Amino acid sequence: MTTLVIGARGSVGCHVVDQLLAAGEPVRASVRDPSSADLSADVSVVAADLTKADTLRAALAGVRKVFLYAPAGGVDAFIDAARDADLERIVLLSSGSVLLPYAVDNAIAEEHRSVERAMAGSGLPWMPIRPLVLANNTLNWADSIRTERVVRLIHPEAVMAPIHERDVAAVAVAALLGKAGDEAGAMLTGSEALSQRRQVELIGAAIDEDIRVDELSESQARDHFRRFADPDIVDAIIEFVAAAANGGSPATDTAEQMLGRPAVHFAQWARDHATVFR
Ligand SMILES: NC(=O)c1ccc[n+]([C@@H]2O[C@H](COP(=O)([O-])OP(=O)(O)OC[C@H]3O[C@@H](n4cnc5c(N)ncnc54)[C@H](OP(=O)(O)O)[C@@H]3O)[C@@H](O)[C@H]2O)c1
Repeated sequence: MTTLVIGARGSVGCHVVDQLLAAGEPVRASVRDPSSADLSADVSVVAADLTKADTLRAALAGVRKVFLYAPAGGVDAFIDAARDADLERIVLLSSGSVLLPYAVDNAIAEEHRSVERAMAGSGLPWMPIRPLVLANNTLNWADSIRTERVVRLIHPEAVMAPIHERDVAAVAVAALLGKAGDEAGAMLTGSEALSQRRQVELIGAAIDEDIRVDELSESQARDHFRRFADPDIVDAIIEFVAAAANGGSPATDTAEQMLGRPAVHFAQWARDHATVFR
């Protein structure tokens, strides 16, 4: 029963591919541009774009299960194509922010809520998985760590429980294999709440270097984030970090409940990615 992984080169998607293969499942991997794909020889690779229903129809032919990202431009093209396919299960990588009561006008939470609403109204057999904070957000610190051994942060003491992308993929794979019910959609985090400062220390330990933290004011942080995000996304990020400074970014046991083992520690995530920070 073939699973189509849409976004097979993504940091979560690539682990979904590997873990499905390890479970003996047939996998079809999709990327927008196959010429630049560097994927295992054990998977067939197709071109598919979540904004283009025709590419999705071809990719979905003969497939029974799908993993997909929440597309920024909406999920209507996928829903159109998926209605013509014979799908048994769809797992959507959504966001735990949809469950945060305070994130009402938050652009990131709203983008994911809107995709979830469309899926819920589609009649398709779907389920969301909802990580709150991906550990790989800290890859955004890599340049300044490599070049200056410094990380510039708003609210360095803000506490959150980042989750390893491998664990997010493991929950997605459990859901794809039918080993999960509605609990798969609970808020998904790492096992421990860590301040941003502590995350920097653990990256420092992984590369055996001291890393300084420079605190940013809100206006400095806005300038910093505006280099890579639109203003509404900058507002959303700042709202999340400010909430985390007030206990609004909890650690949950969803990963442990689903996987029967503790979530991977952030210290291990840092060791797994040490070369990026050296
Ligand atoms: N950052 C967080 O803390 C956080 C928290 C909760 C949820 N999330 C969710 O996790 C996602 C990030 O996951 P990640 O780190 O694995 O992302 P990533 O490494 O940036 O990968 C994104 C993947 O999405 C695919 N993609 C993007 N637009 C597409 C389109 N129009 N059609 C087909 N494929 C498309 C890309 O495919 P190509 O290879 O073709 O480019 C790529 O494989 C966020 O977008 C968000 O929805 C993030």
